[in-house]
Amino acid sequence: MKALVYRGPGFKTLEQRPTPILQAPDDAIVKVTKTTICGTDLHILKGDVPSCVPGRVLGHEGVGVVQAVGAACTNFKPGDRVLISCITSCGKCDYCRRGMYSHCRTGGWILGNTIDGTQAEYVRIPHADTSLYRLPDGADEEALVMLSDILPTGFECGVLNGKVENPGVTLAIVGAGPIGLATLLTAQFFSPAKIIMIDLDDNRLQVAKKLGASETINSAKEDAQARVMALTDGLGADAVVEAVGIPATFELCQDLVAPGGTIANVGVHGKKVDLHLERLWAHNISITTRLVDTATTNILLKAVASRKLNPTVLITHRFTLDAILDAYDTFGRAAETKALKVIISPDT
Ligand SMILES: NC(=O)c1ccc[n+]([C@@H]2O[C@H](COP(=O)([O-])OP(=O)(O)OC[C@H]3O[C@@H](n4cnc5c(N)ncnc54)[C@H](O)[C@@H]3O)[C@@H](O)[C@H]2O)c1
Ligand SMILES: [Zn+2]
Ligand SMILES: [Zn+2]
Repeated sequence: MKALVYRGPGFKTLEQRPTPILQAPDDAIVKVTKTTICGTDLHILKGDVPSCVPGRVLGHEGVGVVQAVGAACTNFKPGDRVLISCITSCGKCDYCRRGMYSHCRTGGWILGNTIDGTQAEYVRIPHADTSLYRLPDGADEEALVMLSDILPTGFECGVLNGKVENPGVTLAIVGAGPIGLATLLTAQFFSPAKIIMIDLDDNRLQVAKKLGASETINSAKEDAQARVMALTDGLGADAVVEAVGIPATFELCQDLVAPGGTIANVGVHGKKVDLHLERLWAHNISITTRLVDTATTNILLKAVASRKLNPTVLITHRFTLDAILDAYDTFGRAAETKALKVIISPDT
């Protein structure tokens, strides 16, 4: 089969690889029909993720059709159309039993990291019963690819951790990439009083405005803190979501948070960041961090089915698996290409 293989920092190739086979009784083999590229794949290619070693098939998002199941897999059978979660979970260990699937003792984020992933014609899914979701009849596959990772991430790490459900909340989201925009979409389940979106990219801010942001701020062109204070009676935002992953933006979040508010960090950080306790110690704030658990995937599937959530607005480009190197190039130059999420279809 064809697969996109990580060959060390800066290198990737589209290669022929053996088709995966069942290795454990609770495995399933899934034929991938749609997949995509995540910002985290770009982190891997930069060499930021040491657990992912050269030779690995990348990708942790996708939908497909079950081809084979092990003897212990009872929820799925060949022919079932499924959503692949970016988090693999056994459903039985102590972390799984408390819904913290990201830290499953024999799973977590392993796909396209410590085991071969979804940017291929076929993928092996361990713990298939608890790591796959059946696609509803008539479901739009492209829409549901967004539920493998980015929508649960925005919703769990940003919206739920940021306590956006409190009535009348003012929300500021720093970073209008796919994750920041997924936060923006799912925040609207709770009708926040204001949603302020901050980025350096005018195109992404324009998209944010279309998707429901009440205010947008280009922090390269204006003083984001001054604008947020002006918009919030000088208090700051109750919920501030960090959706970039660099020291400058986490520090900006500390300047934007209102007394009593929450900074919900979503970004993956590679460098240490200063925490300004000399100022914040008296502000009754909370800071949360989270690796997405995909504990809300079922809720999000229902929200898509009932048309309360339309993830297709995040899709900007489509490629075949043969052209996946072009897909990476387009996704990697998002500022020029205006890419958000790219769909890759192995079978066309
Ligand atoms: N916690 C988790 O489980 C989890 C899961 C998936 C992704 N992530 C992380 O979430 C982060 C966002 O992901 P993404 O795919 O949207 O990334 P992205 O790179 O596409 O988007 C980041 C956005 O931040 C903007 N930005 C960069 N520097 C800025 C600055 N100084 N001020 C304001 N905006 C700035 C960029 O213009 C871009 O639009 C990444 O760090 C990613 O690794 C975390
Ligand atoms: Zn991802
Ligand atoms: Zn587990």
